[in-house]
Amino acid sequence: MKNYPKLQQTFTLNNGVVLKNKIVMAPMTTWSSNEDQTVSNAEVSYYGARANSAGMVITGSSHVQENGVGFANELGVYADRFIPGLTKLATAIKAGGAKAIIQLNHAGDKALPQFISDKDVVSASPVPAPETAFAPAQTPRALTEYEILQVIKSFGAATKRAIQAGFDGIEIHGAHGFLVQNFLSPHYNQRTDRWGGSLENRLRFAMAVVDEVKQVAAEYADDSFIIGYRITLEEPEADGLRLVDTQSLIEHLIEKQVSYLHLSLGDAVTSHSHNSGNDEPFIQLISKQVAQRVPLIAAGALASFEKMETALADGLDLVAVGQALVANPDLFNHEQLSLTLAASKIDSITVPKTMFAAIKRVGAFTFKLVD
Ligand SMILES: Cc1cc2nc3c(=O)[nH]c(=O)nc-3n(C[C@H](O)[C@H](O)[C@H](O)COP(=O)(O)O)c2cc1C
Repeated sequence: MKNYPKLQQTFTLNNGVVLKNKIVMAPMTTWSSNEDQTVSNAEVSYYGARANSAGMVITGSSHVQENGVGFANELGVYADRFIPGLTKLATAIKAGGAKAIIQLNHAGDKALPQFISDKDVVSASPVPAPETAFAPAQTPRALTEYEILQVIKSFGAATKRAIQAGFDGIEIHGAHGFLVQNFLSPHYNQRTDRWGGSLENRLRFAMAVVDEVKQVAAEYADDSFIIGYRITLEEPEADGLRLVDTQSLIEHLIEKQVSYLHLSLGDAVTSHSHNSGNDEPFIQLISKQVAQRVPLIAAGALASFEKMETALADGLDLVAVGQALVANPDLFNHEQLSLTLAASKIDSITVPKTMFAAIKRVGAFTFKLVD
């Protein structure tokens, strides 16, 4: 085993929580929860095996309302019946020495109607959402004022369940064009009430979710509870989310004292803005803005130790690793990380069979799939 002193150093969050190293397992859905969306044994083994390698493990997205489901066989967290399974999951992650974080999401205009009892897909506004690798093209129904307040409460209720299950924290999924980002987006949010229009209004939903989650954490957990926030920095639409919007979001999140900011990037080291005219890599740009006020994490094609170290040198505090950790659960036992998933070997690396099948079906990742 080679030593990577920078990656293997501990890291202390602003609330004093110490992570055993600077590797974070990026949130990745497993498509492997039981049919009733409770945690499966395969998921417990999969996450448990990777918790040895990472200081913090973030679960794949879990939906905070029944109609917020973004993936088939996705973790549910919208009712108390999920708590026993979630307890097993948090226990397995913590047994590996990692902090256990559950990603909380509402899929908004990318929710999958076939898994929603009344097929009622909702978002900020009835703006058509294009087809993605995971969701059909569809036009959501706009949430009413009352329903918006219910969704915010659902993030709080999910946080309470995460605490009851023994998780060390939650991550608000504010990225990938799901509901929280739908509200922030000048394209997907066409509301004319207090939840839309000006940037201040478009930020209101995200801020209300953060406030609700913080309030629940203050009531049911202690100061060590971690509250992270995942961000997509820009949208491709001509009138979509821009860097100025997300830089303002970042200021607001720092003011709210979230525990970390987590950028979701195509390539953590090289990705840069496509429409602001500034082509400085995002992690350098954002780390200058953040100026150590809050820990900064990014994910994206970090599949070698050298590149992870470069990302740290370029401004990240922690590196989030996705596919490389799926394929190499015992990360530090490898000199070279591989992105090969072999059908004949998935049992030995505890990749659930349904996850492998979904990865094959979706075909949108950088894994190399072999028989
Ligand atoms: C199989 C798979 C599932 C994913 N599911 C989620 C998810 O549930 N939530 C999320 O925020 N990102 C999700 N992502 C994105 C990852 O968190 C990460 O940002 C992306 O894979 C880039 O990192 P990588 O190149 O190290 O894999 C997923 C990625 C993969 C490969």
